[in-house]
Amino acid sequence: MSEFILEARSVQRSFESGEKHIEVLRGVDFQLKSGQSASIQGESGSGKSTLLNLLAGLDLPDGGDVLWEGQSIAGRSGDALSILRGSQIGMVFQSYYLVPELRALDNVMLGGRISGRIEKLEKRSVELLERVGLGDRMKSLPSTLSGGERQRVAIARAMISNPRILLADEPTGNLDETTGDSIMNMLQLMCREDSVALVLVTHNTTYASRMDDSWLLKQGILELS
Ligand SMILES: Nc1ncnc2c1ncn2[C@@H]1O[C@H](COP(=O)(O)OP(=O)(O)O)[C@@H](O)[C@H]1O
Ligand SMILES: [Mg+2]
Repeated sequence: MSEFILEARSVQRSFESGEKHIEVLRGVDFQLKSGQSASIQGESGSGKSTLLNLLAGLDLPDGGDVLWEGQSIAGRSGDALSILRGSQIGMVFQSYYLVPELRALDNVMLGGRISGRIEKLEKRSVELLERVGLGDRMKSLPSTLSGGERQRVAIARAMISNPRILLADEPTGNLDETTGDSIMNMLQLMCREDSVALVLVTHNTTYASRMDDSWLLKQGILELS
């Protein structure tokens, strides 16, 4: 068993955009221990979301590898990868990505659709919504919730499958300062309580400094700062 829950080794990723070839990640190394937290900062366009998608196995590197609990994700088939991802990784995004037609409770349950019995799934979804302070909004559609409340639903959804790793891409980016603070506190508390390793992409230096490790992505290279 690897000492790291999440690892990137010499990860490279480039894109073709029109005539242009953009090398976004030029050999990124990253390590995170079980239950620990890390922030990733960097200018807009520096490749933070690209890196997070690779760490989540939503995208595959052109070179190098990503490892979850020491298991390489390179060379796995799409199905095998998505099953593994479902049990190991939770994700939270800046713009929530809730399904507009579904109530809060169903959005949370959807995140755990591969994890077994529906009654169990519903019970756990209710518990998670109560934990994020939305016990009285379970039947609400996303359009009737505030930004902060939507992000709480998204956090509950990310936690539904008991992930070992939570990846958050600017989770407070669309929220005012007070709401952002409460979302950040909740995210950190839930990860601590459940021993979930947290990777936080943020522009907020205060939030970044609250993580165990702080990384900076610059010119395609990730460095501890
Ligand atoms: N699918 C894609 N196709 C082409 N270019 C992309 C794609 N995804 C990201 N990029 C480019 O990669 C760079 C990094 O983007 P991104 O990872 O979103 O940065 P950040 O999250 O740090 O703002 C940008 O120049 C962006 O335009
Ligand atoms: Mg981004």
